[in-house]
Amino acid sequence: MPAVGGIPTGPGKEYPGNLTPYVLVTCVVAAMGGLIFGYDIGISGGVTSMDPFLRKFFPKVYRSKHDDTSTNQYCQYNSETLTMFTSSLYLAALLSSLVASTVTRKLGRKPSMLLGGLLFFAGALLNGFAQAVWMLIVGRILLGFGIGFANQSVPLYLSETAPYKYRGALNIGFQLSITVGILVANVLNYFFAKIDGGWGWRLSLGGAIVPAIILTAGSLILPDTPNSLIERGKMEDAREKLKRIRGLENVDEEFNDLVMASELSKQVEHPWRNLLQRKYRPHVAVATLIPFFQQFTGINVIMFYAPVLFNTIGFGDDASLMSSVITGLVNVVATLVSIYGVDKWGRRFLFLEGGAQMLICQIIVAACIGAKFGIDGQPGELPKWYAIVVVLFICIYVAAFAWSWGPLGWLVPSEVFPLEIRSAAQSINVSVNMVFTFVVAQAFLNMLCHMKFGLFLFFAFFVVVMTIYIYYFLPETKNIPIEEMNQVWRSHWFWAKFMTEEFSNGNVEMHKGGQALKNV
Ligand code: BGC
Repeated sequence: MPAVGGIPTGPGKEYPGNLTPYVLVTCVVAAMGGLIFGYDIGISGGVTSMDPFLRKFFPKVYRSKHDDTSTNQYCQYNSETLTMFTSSLYLAALLSSLVASTVTRKLGRKPSMLLGGLLFFAGALLNGFAQAVWMLIVGRILLGFGIGFANQSVPLYLSETAPYKYRGALNIGFQLSITVGILVANVLNYFFAKIDGGWGWRLSLGGAIVPAIILTAGSLILPDTPNSLIERGKMEDAREKLKRIRGLENVDEEFNDLVMASELSKQVEHPWRNLLQRKYRPHVAVATLIPFFQQFTGINVIMFYAPVLFNTIGFGDDASLMSSVITGLVNVVATLVSIYGVDKWGRRFLFLEGGAQMLICQIIVAACIGAKFGIDGQPGELPKWYAIVVVLFICIYVAAFAWSWGPLGWLVPSEVFPLEIRSAAQSINVSVNMVFTFVVAQAFLNMLCHMKFGLFLFFAFFVVVMTIYIYYFLPETKNIPIEEMNQVWRSHWFWAKFMTEEFSNGNVEMHKGGQALKNV
């Protein structure tokens, strides 16, 4: 998320500041960034289960779905181009987030957001009017580029503009807007699929221009952030902007800290080479394993392909789209649970509980599908109880993800990296997430065809491994100020031996964790 994790949290120094109109507009625009990302995650699965869409672009898939009822159900959607349609977006997002980090740093957050909005707009338009598969794929690639730019700049903009005390909530707030985007996509798919004439998919895909326009307009209206102005040497401008954003005359303390943070981060040389040092092993582990595991929960099998999956396991088209609306709703509500509980119950509790809950559900779903479809994918008559049980356990699984690995997969990395490696480690985190989102999206239909119900056991295996990692190797970070995070590693049974004394490096760590992110 995508760089949803760009917003550091933790109680640190507090600066005065009001919820000014600037801040509110910022939140709306930031929400659009998350919404668009979620919309793109949610829309493709529904569209690819719509018959008119398949008939037009993927006639082979359409035929195997309809003509030959004896075909192995597990394989009816297996098509390289169909998965390419879904997954091309994530590859584009990965590539553009690398470019976006330089644009965001050199030119400011606004140009990145503007570019993100415009790319989204172009992609949505191309998709909505698509006449051939290449238009679909190029459209998805443009959307992916948009995501790279928006997810790099929006969370940064948010973290630099929002009053400090709201940052923690905003971190998961961004994830919440992703889940809302997924839900909106699911609901729209459900209604657009019913449009006579079978062109509803055009509205589903083209609908992304609404948030794209809001994001574009927002990026034109909003001021550049003080951090970005300081970084580009425009000191007086920066002070004036800070006053207006905070709605206060006296912003000296925060301003001085911003300037100091900027100076310090300029002194950090070779952030990438730094990462290779032994003392950063626990951080590199977090930056690579957390996003890898997040994707290997298998969540995006549900998010991207829920209607296709429900269809495969015997639901009608309408029921499939409806079921994905239900899972989308569960996803949103359970994210709220996380916002409520993350600072009360802690990260580890949510990770461990979520892991156990996901594991149980995956085993039950695999057993249900295996019992009915067997190895050959011939279900025969499907009783109603069967559909209810499968949907119920998929919902319980989605709830578990949405209050554990979903938001925490972004929150935890963002709070454990020390300043001197933060930008590099954060890029790794985002890139690893995108790579494995791509891999899962690309491989799923093929895996379903070959591994059959065992696919759920495959992901269940990873859930066991990641839960063991959390239990033994991830320390609790609840209520730990960012600048004291090193202490947590130093007293950890395993990681302590990697931490050397010089690591404390107190004067490089800063009071205001968020500012370091301007280098991301
Ligand atoms: C993940 C996405 C996923 C979404 C589901 C995010 O945290 O990074 O890959 O689709 O949660 O809500």
